[in-house]
Amino acid sequence: MKPETQRRITSFQPPIRTLMGPGPSDVHPRVLEAMARPTIGHLDPAFVEMMEELKILLRYAFQTNNDLTFPVSGPGSVGMESCFVNLVEPGDKVIVCVNGVFGNRMVENVKRAHGEPIVIKDNWGEPVDVQKVEDALKANPGVKVVAFVHAETSTGVQSDAKALAALAHKYGALTIVDAVTSLAGSPLKVDEWELDAVYSGSQKCLSCTPGLSPVTFSERAVESVKARKAIGQSWFMDLSLVLGYWTAAKRTYHHTAPINALYGLHESLVILQEEGIENSWKRHMDNHLMLKVGLEKLGLEFLVAEPYRLPQLNAVKVPSGVDEAEVRRLLLNEYNLEIGAGLGDLAGKVWRIGLMGHASREQNVRLCVQALGEILGA
Ligand SMILES: Cc1ncc(COP(=O)(O)O)c(C=O)c1O
Repeated sequence: MKPETQRRITSFQPPIRTLMGPGPSDVHPRVLEAMARPTIGHLDPAFVEMMEELKILLRYAFQTNNDLTFPVSGPGSVGMESCFVNLVEPGDKVIVCVNGVFGNRMVENVKRAHGEPIVIKDNWGEPVDVQKVEDALKANPGVKVVAFVHAETSTGVQSDAKALAALAHKYGALTIVDAVTSLAGSPLKVDEWELDAVYSGSQKCLSCTPGLSPVTFSERAVESVKARKAIGQSWFMDLSLVLGYWTAAKRTYHHTAPINALYGLHESLVILQEEGIENSWKRHMDNHLMLKVGLEKLGLEFLVAEPYRLPQLNAVKVPSGVDEAEVRRLLLNEYNLEIGAGLGDLAGKVWRIGLMGHASREQNVRLCVQALGEILGA
C-alpha cells in the first residue's frame, strides 16, 4: 500500500464561505436541510408524487406550460448536451452565437453531434448581434437550430432571447437557449418569448447545490425530436428513454435518480414560489444596483455597457497594477468571501462578482464592497 493510504482521514468539514462568484452560489439553509431527509426509493409512490410537483414548480420558474419540463440528472453541461444530442442530427445546420466561453461549448456540442456549426462571433462583453444572426439565416437556407446563451456567465452579458427566437422562427428554425445563469435571476419567459429547448442549472439563482439541470422543451422541439431519422449517439440523454421515468403513467427504471438532490431542488423551487418570481428578479436587480454604487465609489468599472448587464453576474475590470489573483486570495483567506476570476480571453482582466439566489442579499453586497475597499486601499 502507498504510504498515504495509511493516513487517518476523518469527516470533511468545509470552511464556511460566502459564495459570490459565478456559481455555485450560497445554498439556502432550507435546501440543505431538505437534502438531509431520509432517502426513499426512486419508484416509491411518495417520490413519484414529488417528481410531479417538481415539474409544476419548474414550469413556474421557466414561465411555461410545456409538458416536457423536468430536471436532468447532471450539471448544466448535461442539460446543454441533452438539448444538442436530441435536436441535432448528422448534417443539420446550426447557427451558434458565440460571445463568451459557453457559446464555444455549444459549438463543440454541435460538432460532436455531427451537425454543421455556423458560428456568429461577437466581442466578449457584448450581447449577440441580432442583425448578424439574420444575415446568417439569409445566407444559409435550411438552418435547423439557432443556439445562444441568454446570460453569458463568462462576461456578465445578457442577450435578447425574445428577438433571437422570433428571428429563428421567421426562418423556420428552432432555438436552443442556455439559461443556466438567467433562471430566477432575471426575466426569462419561455412561453411568451417562444423559446424551444432551454436548459439551466441548479447552482446559480435557484440557490440549490450543483448537479441538476432543469430543462424545458416546447411542442415544436418535441415534434422535432420525434421526427428524428437517426438514432441519437447518447443512451443516457435520449429523451424518449428518459421520459419513461419522468412522464409515463407507469414509471420505468431508466437510471437511479439523485433522490436527495431532487429534494433540495424541490425546496429551492418552493422558496422561489413563496418569494414570487417577479420579486426574485427585482431582488437581484436591487442588489446589483447597490453593488454598482459601492464599486463605483471604489473607482471600479464594469466590463459591460449598462443596458446589457446581468444583475446576477457583475464583471468588473481589474485596475491596472493590481494583482487580481492576490486580491481573490485575500478575500478568501481574510474574509471567507469567494469571487470569480476572468475566464478565457478575460483571464486576469476582470473579476466576476455573483449575486445569485440566496447570495443576492444586502449584507453580502456590503461585505464585498467593504472587503474590496480594504484590500485595494480605496
Ligand atoms: C452559461 C453557462 N452554461 C453552462 C454552464 C455549465 O454548467 P455546469 O458547470 O453546471 O455543468 C455554466 C456553468 O457555469 C454556465 O454559466
